[in-house]
Amino acid sequence: MNVSPAAAGSPPSLAEQLLSWYDRHHRDLPWRVTPPAARAGKQADPYHVWLSEVMLQQTTVQAVKPYFAKFLGLWPTVNDLASAPVEDVMAAWAGLGYYARARNLKKCAEAVASLHGGVFPDTEAGLKALPGIGDYTSAAVAAIAFNRQAAVMDGNVERVISRLYAIDAPLPGSKPAMKAKVADLTPSDRPGDFAQAMMDLGATICTPKRPACALCPFNHDCLALATDEPERFPVKAAKKEKPVRFGAAFVAVTPDGAVLLRRRIETGLLGGMTEVPTTAWTARIDGGTTPDHAPFAADWQACGTIIHVFTHFELRLSVFRVQSARHDIDGGWWEPVETLSAQALPTVMKKAITQAIPLAFV
Ligand code: ADE
Repeated sequence: MNVSPAAAGSPPSLAEQLLSWYDRHHRDLPWRVTPPAARAGKQADPYHVWLSEVMLQQTTVQAVKPYFAKFLGLWPTVNDLASAPVEDVMAAWAGLGYYARARNLKKCAEAVASLHGGVFPDTEAGLKALPGIGDYTSAAVAAIAFNRQAAVMDGNVERVISRLYAIDAPLPGSKPAMKAKVADLTPSDRPGDFAQAMMDLGATICTPKRPACALCPFNHDCLALATDEPERFPVKAAKKEKPVRFGAAFVAVTPDGAVLLRRRIETGLLGGMTEVPTTAWTARIDGGTTPDHAPFAADWQACGTIIHVFTHFELRLSVFRVQSARHDIDGGWWEPVETLSAQALPTVMKKAITQAIPLAFV
């Protein structure tokens, strides 16, 4: 659809209404070129847009900001990221979760560097051909960095669309129909701003609970609001209960404050990340939960259980602690508590260590 300036007397299109709201209420984000800067000729850096979009699939804007700054500090260009050791990238990513993404991030940077001379492809199809870039990221980068008329749909946009059109069919089955609506609404003029405006609207006005409909640029058009039940949307298929898995984590500390760590095998959950020794739980199989499974025999003391929710299961880890002299274990090393933060420790491991050493990361 094209957006032409509203002719005198004809009402502005939905895209025009949204863009005019965005001009006034956009968020200032470190990776974003805001409308005034865009008018002055500034363009978004595709590396910044790509990096932020991959990170934002993990967590919130607030949580991403420090990670984004850290990555740009360490690797100012995509070529720098391409030549970084993968362990460093995993360590910088630690805490964001879903660590396969960090590996794919590195692979994608390598492909941009080696196949494209460090320049991101500027079409949705070209971007999607890169490793680790799927429908969402290719559309988002094409729209935001290259102003392509791509339909960008994330959870925020799904909420806005499902309410605007009061879509009764449940997610995830209704996704294709919703994406068709987004494609229909996306203007040829300022498609990148339109995509970001939809996301900002979902994040700040069309929120899951108590949406601020009085402030919404779509409030005259929204079918969910017309029936006074915006919170009913998006309709979601009933969730299956997550299975619960059990295991144990062993935190060994020397009298001078070093903690026994090791690296997880490359494949599988948290592959290649750092851990304290644990029993071998997986998404399908429990691990042992007693000190019989500890990496070495000692007077292990139980110090509670931590719960961590992964995508496909909930893990309950019994945490044990011992103060001990240094033991050598296969692939293990002793890390001073002061430098634990620089390790590629996933959140579940930070929780386990904190359970045994409350001030480890303070
Ligand atoms: N969430 C994910 N990507 C975003 C973006 N580009 N702007 C605002 N919120 C987002």
